[in-house]
Amino acid sequence: MRIKKVTKAIFPVAGMGTRFLPATKSIPKEIMTLVDRPLIQYAIDEARAAGIKEFIFVTARGKSALEDYFDHAPELESALRKAGKEELLEALKDTNMDSGAIAYVRQNRAMGLGHAVWCARRLIGNEPFAVLLPDDVIAAEKPCLQQMIEAYAQTGGNMVAAMEVAPSKTSSYGVLDVADDMGSIVKVKGMVEKPKMEDAPSNLAVIGRYILTPKVMTNLNKMKQGAGGEIQLTDAIAEEALTPGKVFGFRFRGQRFDCGSKAGFLQATVAFALSRPDLRDEFGSYLHDLIALQTAAQ
Ligand code: UTP
Repeated sequence: MRIKKVTKAIFPVAGMGTRFLPATKSIPKEIMTLVDRPLIQYAIDEARAAGIKEFIFVTARGKSALEDYFDHAPELESALRKAGKEELLEALKDTNMDSGAIAYVRQNRAMGLGHAVWCARRLIGNEPFAVLLPDDVIAAEKPCLQQMIEAYAQTGGNMVAAMEVAPSKTSSYGVLDVADDMGSIVKVKGMVEKPKMEDAPSNLAVIGRYILTPKVMTNLNKMKQGAGGEIQLTDAIAEEALTPGKVFGFRFRGQRFDCGSKAGFLQATVAFALSRPDLRDEFGSYLHDLIALQTAAQ
């Protein structure tokens, strides 16, 4: 079996981010910062580490801050250079993309994740592609997409990142119907979007990293609105899962933070701050004192 290399990735960033209103009235959710980097930067770094060369953003009205973020900032760069701030210049380098490496397509109505992915169909053509949802941030020794690309090199087909969730939480996720559990790789025979606990085929939930075949795009062509009135990516992948050996779940190694929710964002902020050598001591001792105070007050 010859498995095509994955070099293109779609970043759907056209959602309205209503859970973060009023902040997201004028700031795209993906620009909100985890410590000192916007969410989108974490996703881009992960994709780069996995060998992605073409970055496709599905954007919407009000997201121009995202486009500016990845551009050069000549005035800022020259001011930093003059001031000899080499470290800051270095930090800015990660935000610059090669000319032509980045493309933007517009989703003119937020009709769901499946619809957002479909908007990029002409840029994908007949190639496998990755999808990364920037609000899922994954702390991992080896970046999650890289782990998936390595697993995909063995399986081919479609691969979705998956993790065990509490049965009471299945209604927040796409959930896998497992044909064969082989450990880190799972053969999938079906997928259900946001099932109630009693209807969930398992507690293995899909999170925001995918490697998909062009056939999923074809499936999206004919998709109708599914759960929640949106065009669901899950439904287009589930259609592939009807053929054995076409869809795999991948239990990644790492910790996923749901930065699309306030609690998840706060947890990620604490975890990432504590993992930073420049912040660990000061922030850690603040947390320590805070907890001690709260415990004493109880
Ligand atoms: P979410 O379900 O988190 O929706 O989308 P949202 O609009 O971003 O946030 P809330 O729920 O209103 O707070 C998951 C991902 O899919 C993208 C989002 O930008 C996010 O990266 N998305 C969602 C689109 O690009 N288009 C859509 O129509 C829906």
